[in-house]
Amino acid sequence: MKKHKILYKTRGRKKMKLGNFDLNKTHLGDCMELAKKLPDNSIDLVVTSPPYADTVSYGHKVKVFNSEEYVNWFLELFKEAQRFLKPTGSFILNINDRATNGERSTYVFELVYRIVKETGLKMFDRYIWFKKSALPMPGEKRLNDRIEYIFHFVKDTKKFKTYTDRVRVPYKEVSLKRFKSKVHGNDIILPDGTTKLSQRGSSKPHPKGAKPITVFRFDTCSALRGLKHPAPYHPQLPEFFIKWLTDEGDIVLDPFMGGGTTAEVCIKLNRKFIGFDINPEYIKMSEERVKNSIKKYKSNKNLKEFY
Ligand SMILES: C[S@@+](CC[C@H](N)C(=O)[O-])C[C@H]1O[C@@H](n2cnc3c(N)ncnc32)[C@H](O)[C@@H]1O
Repeated sequence: MKKHKILYKTRGRKKMKLGNFDLNKTHLGDCMELAKKLPDNSIDLVVTSPPYADTVSYGHKVKVFNSEEYVNWFLELFKEAQRFLKPTGSFILNINDRATNGERSTYVFELVYRIVKETGLKMFDRYIWFKKSALPMPGEKRLNDRIEYIFHFVKDTKKFKTYTDRVRVPYKEVSLKRFKSKVHGNDIILPDGTTKLSQRGSSKPHPKGAKPITVFRFDTCSALRGLKHPAPYHPQLPEFFIKWLTDEGDIVLDPFMGGGTTAEVCIKLNRKFIGFDINPEYIKMSEERVKNSIKKYKSNKNLKEFY
């Protein structure tokens, strides 16, 4: 585990640096500018939920991009990520689109396409966040929308790290039954037209449980009480990816830190973090949350090593 030099302590909190940035701190500014100052190959994981196009305003000085401007604006961060991400690292992007005037916008698909074509990052996978609760959609034609997208980009499809055993889940009854029947593969059609059963998959359940599926049932922020930020994500989202994709002591970046959810999860799991946010009010919120989280998790065995 790479150690960062502890430079000094203020009010009981350790200060560690990454380049010119203090670690375990959310820095005020435009992430497009601040990201340029991150050292090369220095970040283990980016997990973030940016402002979506045409939606919430995050303060009177913060520009809300329309869907035409959005992709060019956001692409800059991914160009930087290709430089500052470690080859073992991942970039997890939670994003959504909207339907207006009868049409769902396509900017998310354009963004993903251009990230892959223009930045050198690879898309390892795409996941669906199925929201356990959501407001009903108005109108008769459109069905109730209960999903958001999560995209997983990596710099190197062979070198990026995962710790799947840490996120395994109990098997469903039906899967365990399938393991008991001798074969559980699909029919394969042979060149002569006959079929045989494939032996795909293992014949025994994994002792630590099943691999999670690519649809996540995270709660929405409405399940959180008392947070003042207008659009926080639920800690379950960053927690899953931080556990799956990083080790203790690794550095997690949230370039749109908002009310500090990613920071709180990093403290809970003994990871270091760097945050950016453009709105000073949210920086205050996030600092408050960090202080409270350090108190809340002070009994964690390794917390003192990093905070
Ligand atoms: C969807 S919110 C993030 C919420 C966060 N995940 C949480 O749980 O609180 C997006 C955040 O991005 C910030 N933001 C918008 N434009 C920014 C920019 N150019 N640079 C840095 N932060 C920005 C907003 O102030 C807002 O707090």
